[in-house]
Amino acid sequence: MKPVVLRTERLELSIPIEADIEAVFEACQDPAIIRYTTVPSPYERRHAEEFVVRVTTNWAEDTEQTWAIRDGDVLAGMIGLYRQGAGSAELGYWIAPASRERGFGTEASRAVIDWAFSPDGLDLHRIEWRAVVGNVGSARIARALGFHYEGTLRQALRNGSGVRDDGWIAGLLATDDRLPQEWPVLG
Ligand SMILES: CC(C)(COP(=O)(O)OP(=O)(O)OC[C@H]1O[C@@H](n2cnc3c(N)ncnc32)[C@H](O)[C@@H]1OP(=O)(O)O)[C@@H](O)C(=O)NCCC(=O)NCCS
Repeated sequence: MKPVVLRTERLELSIPIEADIEAVFEACQDPAIIRYTTVPSPYERRHAEEFVVRVTTNWAEDTEQTWAIRDGDVLAGMIGLYRQGAGSAELGYWIAPASRERGFGTEASRAVIDWAFSPDGLDLHRIEWRAVVGNVGSARIARALGFHYEGTLRQALRNGSGVRDDGWIAGLLATDDRLPQEWPVLG
């Protein structure tokens, strides 16, 4: 499909382009992004260049949708829908260090979820969220969005440095009320 632009109160979400390469490269030097996502490590400029090309292909082939999260001219982060199949997809994101703790992760996720469940989007039945056990910031986003905590997956995650971790898993159904849930691991 053609890349879709999503707008929220403060943000615009659109396909990452060549002009974003430098900002993606810089953000992906951040230790938390390296620790908690699957970006390659060490993250080189060529990884950002390849990423932008791959994202375009994935939109065209309907395999994955990735958006740059834009706060005006600033690249605030990246978000997308991955591991798609059987009416389900996994939500993944990172927010650049300078744009954190302003609710951008939550705001961008809400827009992507709305689109993913909509008949004009992917018309999904379920959206999954996974994170390394202890990634409290990401878990607070998922909880606020109405995801239900579903458990721990032993040694299920491997980051871009090859480190294996237990993972928290949560799910959101199209029919869920999207209200913040009790998460036993967040207290
Ligand atoms: C986790 C991450 C996406 C949070 O993005 P963000 O835009 O700062 O998140 P928000 O501002 O929407 O915050 C959501 C909630 O989490 C809290 N929070 C954010 N970062 C936190 C942290 N490091 N530790 C504890 N709580 C945190 C916020 O205070 C807020 O809490 P509230 O709902 O009680 O108000 C960002 O820190 C990041 O990109 N981390 C590295 C990559 C990563 O972990 N990606 C997710 C992989 S599953």
